[in-house]
Amino acid sequence: MCVNLSLMLMLLFLSGAVCSERKVTYQQHICAVKGSSVVIPCSFYYPENLQVKKVMWGHEKSNIFDGPFIFESEMNETASRFQYIGDKEHNCSFKIHDVEKNDAGKYAFRFMTNDKSSYTGTAGSTLKVIDLNVSMMRPNDNRVTKEGDSVNLTCINGCDSDHLSSAFTWFKNGEPKNEGPVLYLSNMNPTDSGNYSCSLKTHTGTASRVININVEYAPKNTSVSGRPLMEVEAGTNITLICSSHANPPVDYTWFKIDESHVLDVGHQPELFTADGGQYFCIATNKHGRQYSSVVTVKIKERWPSFNRDVLIITLSVAVLLIVIAAVAVMKLKTRPRAEETNCEEDSEDADYVNMPDFCTKQSQQRSQGEAATGSSRQTPTMMRKV
Ligand SMILES: *[C@@H]1O[C@H](CO)[C@@H](O)[C@H](O)[C@H]1NC(C)=O
Ligand SMILES: *[C@@H]1O[C@H](CO)[C@@H](O)[C@H](O)[C@H]1NC(C)=O
Ligand SMILES: *[C@@H]1O[C@H](CO)[C@@H](O)[C@H](O)[C@H]1NC(C)=O
Repeated sequence: MCVNLSLMLMLLFLSGAVCSERKVTYQQHICAVKGSSVVIPCSFYYPENLQVKKVMWGHEKSNIFDGPFIFESEMNETASRFQYIGDKEHNCSFKIHDVEKNDAGKYAFRFMTNDKSSYTGTAGSTLKVIDLNVSMMRPNDNRVTKEGDSVNLTCINGCDSDHLSSAFTWFKNGEPKNEGPVLYLSNMNPTDSGNYSCSLKTHTGTASRVININVEYAPKNTSVSGRPLMEVEAGTNITLICSSHANPPVDYTWFKIDESHVLDVGHQPELFTADGGQYFCIATNKHGRQYSSVVTVKIKERWPSFNRDVLIITLSVAVLLIVIAAVAVMKLKTRPRAEETNCEEDSEDADYVNMPDFCTKQSQQRSQGEAATGSSRQTPTMMRKV
């Protein structure tokens, strides 16, 4: 109000001339975090005999006297980020929602009274739009963050003279994580890596720039696996894969244990081999190295050793059986010959009259079996002897 005690006294003398003055009072400087909403407080005065017909808010980018205005009463109000929260008495406060960077600049209020005259409070109110800022404090001021390190992130609202009085929310990879001006990350592990930002608790749209925290660490869980398997048939290639968790990524070295030597056999994460034997890999980055355990690659023969043994035994048994059979046949062949000899001896010792029947039969049978001619020759001999 333009009326105070001294003015009241003057009013008595000047018959209200003082309040015939039109006037708009502002807060000269306004600051807002991008994405938040802000109120531009404002009051206005005019001769008391007048009535306010129309109120307007303009931005210095357009003409604050003639418009176009960013807000105009008596107009069909469309959905807008700009809201008049004053009245048509003396309150001309104005609110801007979801403040954008290019909302910055000077705003001025203009009003029209029922005497058709208009007035703009040219002093205006200047809006500054800022981003929340994050400052990172590392204990050793190292440029890299390692496992076990601690880092403090502080959210700074540049609009706030007392920087820690705002209520903040902290985000990790876009997910709310914590509240308060400072985020303490102590004894960090690899899962703490991520993109961190803060916002005003009241307006999550005010998110700060992102701070990327990349927790580096020496290789872990270094191991070897084989594809398709650790044991393959001869002629099948085997792929050994060295895997390791590390940040930054590791360099690989493959070794083969050959008799008493350890041979460097590769520098890729995968090793292709057709040789059986013992292998291991080493994963190395700037923070350390880790050995995998030793793995054994087996190349199976085309004839698996189990079958070969069976084959050898079978062949041995077969050979043995053949030998036994051969011996048996030989024995069968030699026995009748001995009997025949005896028979012949007997027949020679005998008086050639009583020649036993079976001897004649056997020798005949034998002769018939051996040769057809034999029997015909023997018969005359025997006849001659008789
Ligand atoms: C003007 O109106 C707004 C919204 O109703 C209110 O917050 C503000 O305090 C008022 N200003 C004055 C000076 O009365
Ligand atoms: C972090 O941000 C960077 C760049 O904006 C992006 O490439 C990366 O994928 C983000 N990381 C996560 C975990 O969201
Ligand atoms: C890595 O190894 C550690 C032990 O050194 C174990 O606790 C952890 O589960 C392993 N992680 C994976 C993904 O295998």
